[in-house]
Amino acid sequence: MMEPYGFLIAVVSFLFIQLWGIAAPAQGHNVNVTCEYEAMTDLLHDLALNYSNIVRLESIGKTEEDREIWVMIVSDSPYNRPLLRPQVKFVGNVNGMSGPACYVLLRLTIHLLEQYESEASMERQLMESSEIHIIPNLNPDGYAKAVPGSCSGPEGRVNANNINLNTNFPDIFREKEGEIIQRETAAMIRYLQKNKFVISVSVISGAHVVVYPFDSVLAEEYFADGEPHLTPDDDIFKQLALTYAKKTGSPTEGWVCPRLNRKFPYGIINGAEWNPQSGTMMDYNYIHETFEIMAGISCCRNENDTAVLDKLWWNNREGLLHVVHEVETGIRGQVLDSETYEPIPEAKLEKKSYHYIEGDDEFSMQWYTTQDGEFWRPWQPGKHKLRVEKPGYKTAVVNVEVRYKQPTFLRVELEKVLVVMKSPTPIQNEKTEKPTTPQYDFPITATTSVTEYNSTTQHKDKPLEPEIRSLKHYSSLTQLDHSFLNLFRGIQQRNNAGSRNLKALPIVVPIQFVLHIVFLQNLL
Ligand SMILES: *[C@@H]1O[C@H](CO)[C@@H](O)[C@H](O)[C@H]1NC(C)=O
Ligand SMILES: *[C@@H]1O[C@H](CO)[C@@H](O)[C@H](O)[C@H]1NC(C)=O
Ligand SMILES: *[C@@H]1O[C@H](CO)[C@@H](O)[C@H](O)[C@H]1NC(C)=O
Ligand SMILES: *[C@@H]1O[C@H](CO)[C@@H](O)[C@H](O)[C@H]1NC(C)=O
Repeated sequence: MMEPYGFLIAVVSFLFIQLWGIAAPAQGHNVNVTCEYEAMTDLLHDLALNYSNIVRLESIGKTEEDREIWVMIVSDSPYNRPLLRPQVKFVGNVNGMSGPACYVLLRLTIHLLEQYESEASMERQLMESSEIHIIPNLNPDGYAKAVPGSCSGPEGRVNANNINLNTNFPDIFREKEGEIIQRETAAMIRYLQKNKFVISVSVISGAHVVVYPFDSVLAEEYFADGEPHLTPDDDIFKQLALTYAKKTGSPTEGWVCPRLNRKFPYGIINGAEWNPQSGTMMDYNYIHETFEIMAGISCCRNENDTAVLDKLWWNNREGLLHVVHEVETGIRGQVLDSETYEPIPEAKLEKKSYHYIEGDDEFSMQWYTTQDGEFWRPWQPGKHKLRVEKPGYKTAVVNVEVRYKQPTFLRVELEKVLVVMKSPTPIQNEKTEKPTTPQYDFPITATTSVTEYNSTTQHKDKPLEPEIRSLKHYSSLTQLDHSFLNLFRGIQQRNNAGSRNLKALPIVVPIQFVLHIVFLQNLL
């Protein structure tokens, strides 16, 4: 007769343990989670010491008032990123009064570090499959002036020079008038050049909605209210934004902040549709190959009630973690020379399946391989074509099938093209083996042979070795140059498709681009 009771007790204690585990705010309970600069600096150093095998503390640069902009790099291999491991980033407090954003990202850092111990946890899996960069406070100078508890006050929103960092980035669509790039902005630009982040979330407060690019509108349409300005990767952005909103418990009609007096269905909105702004960090990230969304997590700008902040963390935890998980749906791989197997850096990649505008199926954003020939891209499940191009090689078009939450690994081998000398010199026949990309003393006759590969045969036959390599740097201006040209080409194609009138653009962009180079040369 005792058996059922024993069983019942077991079930009850099991449930108790489970519920206790969920309800108890186990993380960070003995730690003073604060964004106040000195205390936060101590906290981050303590964490880096206590968890030195799974976190690396760095500064991405200094602010105008010489504070460090800290980043915590969380991964099971924080000093050596394994080949093809994608990088994901979180940035808080681009507007310095967003205390809740900084708080939630500190809690995320502590949570990841503490959860690494549990073998089967999602957190550990994320740390084993991606490299997570967390910048809790991009604007510590602003935060020092912010008023704790002030829900609508603008104090601390800008940096020490009164500049809104969120709109201090170079804008590809329009010339910005005379605003100097701030040290914080330059630090972020450099950081984006050093690391190719696949996905990024900028966490802010003062709004409760998830925003996706573009924020900026084309020159002559500025302040045309309520028009969305969508990227060619709108399907991915909507997926990311919806994932965050859903996992954070957005009601169908979205959250409503009294101050904003506006509804956002499903808790998401396009930046330009809501509030057109020029030169935002989110747009800049996208142009430079990172899919960044902006998550507004609290109507109150600088909430300081610990209980409310704690609740904000619990509400946002799943959204933050699942956005990292989204990096698993898409493609990743390496581009190699088909003879030497040397990685091909700066190869140009393009998706061919997305119909941005009817009859304009060529248009897509392009992106480039790393120094190790690596590439990543979040893509929606389905069949796509990947086009890979590098001067001196035959262009490859790869058929790719993407599955939900299962990265498609690709190994793309490019064949060198036959090089023809200028007349009257005859064609050079001798076969010279060159392990690195050859330097030609003469113009290459270009080349558009198309090679078809099947993605399925690629990684199964020749698995990519998970070599340990350190991060490599990019030369800054070539990348900017590329991205600029990509977008420009894309816009021209849209223009040719007759969808919009873009007469002003060819004049506006080059001037801005020149200014942009000057700024960067002065600052970087
Ligand atoms: C946490 O740090 C802040 C900022 O330094 C300080 O004002 C506060 O008293 C600290 N709280 C505790 C509980 O130590
Ligand atoms: C670091 O470890 C020490 C010693 O175990 C502990 O007292 C402290 O609370 C830890 N700090 C953090 C931030 O985890
Ligand atoms: C929190 O905000 C309230 C209201 O502005 C303020 O009175 C209080 O001092 C703040 N608490 C802290 C710890 O800054
Ligand atoms: C690709 O796959 C199809 C169907 O399995 C096959 O018929 C074709 O020969 C393959 N092409 C290459 C280049 O391997």
